[in-house]
Order: sequence, then structure tokens, then C-alpha cells
Amino acid sequence: MAGELSPIDKAKFVAAKRAVDFVEDGMRVGLGTGSTAAWMVRCLGELVREEGMRIKGVPTSARTAHLAREVGIEVVSLDEAKWLDLTIDGADEFDGELNLIKGGGGALLQEKIVATASDQMIVIADIGKQVERLGAFPLPIEVIPFGWQTTKTLVEEMLISMDVLGRDATLRMVGERPFVTDEGNHILDLHLNRIGNPRQLALVLNQVPGVVENGLFIDICDIVVVGYGDGRVEVRDINAGTVERDRLDFLEDDNLFKDLMD
Ligand code: A5P
Repeated sequence: MAGELSPIDKAKFVAAKRAVDFVEDGMRVGLGTGSTAAWMVRCLGELVREEGMRIKGVPTSARTAHLAREVGIEVVSLDEAKWLDLTIDGADEFDGELNLIKGGGGALLQEKIVATASDQMIVIADIGKQVERLGAFPLPIEVIPFGWQTTKTLVEEMLISMDVLGRDATLRMVGERPFVTDEGNHILDLHLNRIGNPRQLALVLNQVPGVVENGLFIDICDIVVVGYGDGRVEVRDINAGTVERDRLDFLEDDNLFKDLMD
């Protein structure tokens, strides 16, 4: 089954598989959202089912909660867990300082709350997510539905004084209707092309009335596990300044793939 995965899916899988090595018995773990995080949830589920690992998982979206329960992970709320040992999540872009753009899947609000409430955040990503400068991926911001068009105008005006190359904001749609987040809000995607000062932009965006949160994760991620389509993985630790290299064998995981496709 692994042979049928695309190189990008293989890269996502090996990053996820390597990242679950950081999870220890008894931990409270933040479970990210997206296709890479879904691999991680399945790998964790396998550890729970086959090795009896006991963890409590705090999902960052309704769809991750559903998947986590399906694979056998005990799901608790953040309020029940209070604080987490570790969060593992995907990203849309990461730079050399491990600053991130997240929210491509629309779950940035819960993702940021959960990651911030964790001793450590590990990002899992295929190598295509690595960028010199953030901003090619449209930056998602979560806005409340009330007066969202006014919020959009205010954000676009504010962007005039920011170090960015584009200023268009678009309301994320699902077919004919605006996308609705798990918190009942909408998402504006900011087409900035290049963000000169992500730290400043993250602070200023949250000052605009109607903006609930933005998808810039600054100084939150500690480790990125980067996957390649040929099975190589790199574990880059920004605090320790280390890079560990490894290679994973897809064949070992035949059962996982079989479980998935059943
Ligand atoms: C979800 O809201 C996002 O932050 C995801 O973590 C991000 O979009 C990465 O998704 P993929 O793993 O599907 O690329």
C-alpha cells in the first residue's frame, strides 16, 4: 500500500512517524489538524492499540477529534488536560527560525491555543513547506462573522503600512457559502506574497476589531520534523541548534496502511 502513496504523502508520513517517537507513555498530547497531522494521529493510534501506550489527546478540530477516537486515542478537552506535554501539528510554511504560517485547514485558532498551552510544539512537514521568507502561502486570519466586510477593509488598510508585497484579502468559501470554523467564525486569506516582518504583522493583525486570531505562529514551534519523498527525515531543533538525520522504511508500516484503506 505504501508504494501507492505519492512522494508528498510519503514525506508527510515519514515526518509524522518520526515525530511520534517524542511521545511518551502518560503524556497529554495536542493533536494537530490537516493531512500531515492525520498521519501522526494514525501512528499514535497504532501505538495505543498495539503497544498499550496511554496518552490523552487534545484535538485541535472536530475532524481530528473524530479521527483520534476512531483510532483508539482517549480524547479530552484542553480544559480537562489544562496543560500539555507536547503538541504535534502540520504547517503551511515554515522558515529558518521555525516561524510558521498555519490555518490552511481553517483550524488555526484552536491550533494556536493548544500549541501555546504545550511545553513543546513539534511541526511535521514535507520539505515543500520550507521557505526562505513566509508569505507565498496566503495568510489565514479568523474573523467573526459580524461585520466581516468592515474587518476586511480595515485589515487591507492596515496592510498599507506593513512590509508585505500584496494586500488582497479574500473570504474563504466552500462552494457558494463562506467557510465556517469550528468556533463559528469565517476565514480571510491574505495574499501577501512576502512578509518582511512576521512578528510585527502578527501583533498588528490582532489589534484589528473583528480579527480573532491570525495564522502566524511566532516563537511557538520548537522542533520541525521534515520529511522527504524517499523516506529521509530531518529533526531540526531550534533551541538546541541541532539537526538529526534518519531514514524510515515504508515496508515496516504495512499494517498501518492496510488499516487505513480498509
Ligand atoms: C490546519 O488549519 C493547518 O494549520 C494545517 O496544519 C496546515 O494547513 C497543514 O496542512 P497539511 O498537513 O494538510 O498540509
